Amino acid sequence: MRRLVRLLLMGRPDGVRRRLVRALLERLLGPPAPADGTPTGAPAPPPPAALRQLLPLVDLVDGQLTETLLDGVPVVVVRRGTRVHVLDATCPHAGGPLGDGDLEGDALVCPLHGWRFDLATGACDVDPSQVVAVHAAEVVDGVVCVPAAP
Ligand code: FES
Repeated sequence: MRRLVRLLLMGRPDGVRRRLVRALLERLLGPPAPADGTPTGAPAPPPPAALRQLLPLVDLVDGQLTETLLDGVPVVVVRRGTRVHVLDATCPHAGGPLGDGDLEGDALVCPLHGWRFDLATGACDVDPSQVVAVHAAEVVDGVVCVPAAP
């Protein structure tokens, strides 16, 4: 009975219906495992998260602010040794240009009223409700990159 059902569904072993069903299954599920049981290989790794390139690392002077655009929005890039920080360049207080500010320790100081923003978190020491957006930066092949927008 089972053989008859299989024959009705799949057709003869060398028939057109079986070849069509195999081709369809292969297209949907991928190639079948080899008959000898060897694995077909590990599944392909997921693609790396998309990154946007900002600047070559060599263009950044350690301890200085560099302003550039990220998707048309000004950001400040700061190199501190091997670490790189990328923050939005507009102060949340009154829109001050943070790219014209100063570095004091681990803080970026706004040139208009002196509010300080932590380089790593963007937190403000004067008003904790005010935070500058911080972009996770990494250096890939000598280029400062940030994750692509979702
Ligand atoms: S505009 Fe930046 S502290 Fe006021």
